[in-house]
Amino acid sequence: MNFSMLVIKTKNELLGELKKIDGALDLGLVPTMGALHEGHRSLIEKAFAENQKVVVSIFVNPTQFNNQEDLAKYPKTLDSDIHLISTISKDIIIFAPTVSEIYPEKVIPKIYDFAGLDKVMEGEFRDDHFNGVGTIVEELLKVVNPKRAYFGEKDFQQLRIIQKLTEIENLPVEIIGCEIVREENGLAMSSRNERLSDKIRHKAAFIIEILKTAKDKFGMENAHCIKEWVNEKFENSEEFQLEYFEITDIETLTPINIKNNNVKYRAFIAVYAEGVRLIDNIALN
Ligand code: PAJ
Repeated sequence: MNFSMLVIKTKNELLGELKKIDGALDLGLVPTMGALHEGHRSLIEKAFAENQKVVVSIFVNPTQFNNQEDLAKYPKTLDSDIHLISTISKDIIIFAPTVSEIYPEKVIPKIYDFAGLDKVMEGEFRDDHFNGVGTIVEELLKVVNPKRAYFGEKDFQQLRIIQKLTEIENLPVEIIGCEIVREENGLAMSSRNERLSDKIRHKAAFIIEILKTAKDKFGMENAHCIKEWVNEKFENSEEFQLEYFEITDIETLTPINIKNNNVKYRAFIAVYAEGVRLIDNIALN
């Protein structure tokens, strides 16, 4: 089943295909790990609307997983991914390389200095996670050489790190952030949501409700009080366990100390429900 889409497995083939396209064409890149859902679709549709040609990469990148079990369990659904992309356009190039194509020698990440952006929240307990993300995204940007590359605000910290990556590696690409796509009840779309029972998936509206209330409170209360309120909400919840809740400025991702009216802030949350880890975030001002 290939829905007559071009699915490319090697860098050489991809370079050959891109050479055929007039170099003057605007090229958009959407990096993914597959298991595509409506969140990914929104990135691909935006890329398709803003560029003359789009490459979607599908690669479960081993160097960004700190847990081998998590890596082994990551869903691989290439046929349905191709189908989803084909419903946007059959003219999109899919790049789905093997691990040895991307890591011909050792499967290890490059080490970056992301100026501390990688040391908090998603990076705090996952030492090499963002080095792994940086390694694959740098490789993809260098091979595809797109004019624009698209990343979701669902992973806002990742988006900031990719922006930093293009700065430190001097990569001539515009990084476009895309809004979070949500399920009907407000739960941020994620392939992990499939692992929740119907009951908890429904109740997981709790997470966005917490973020929305934190946003309302942000105008009136200090961050310390808001954090205490969030902790309390989770202490009283049987179904949801809080890993972290942080309010940080959006540039450095350092936790807020004294609110500065000229600075933009965001609240970030990571929660476990039925053993599934869910993340979300919201702009506060
Ligand atoms: P993956 O989790 O597949 O996500 C691919 C892109 O889709 C990311 O930019 C992510 O932020 C975006 N995305 C996921 N869910 C979304 C949602 N509900 N709304 C909006 N955007 C959403 O993130 C990765 O893959 C990898 O780390 C990758 C960047 C591909 C590097 O391996």
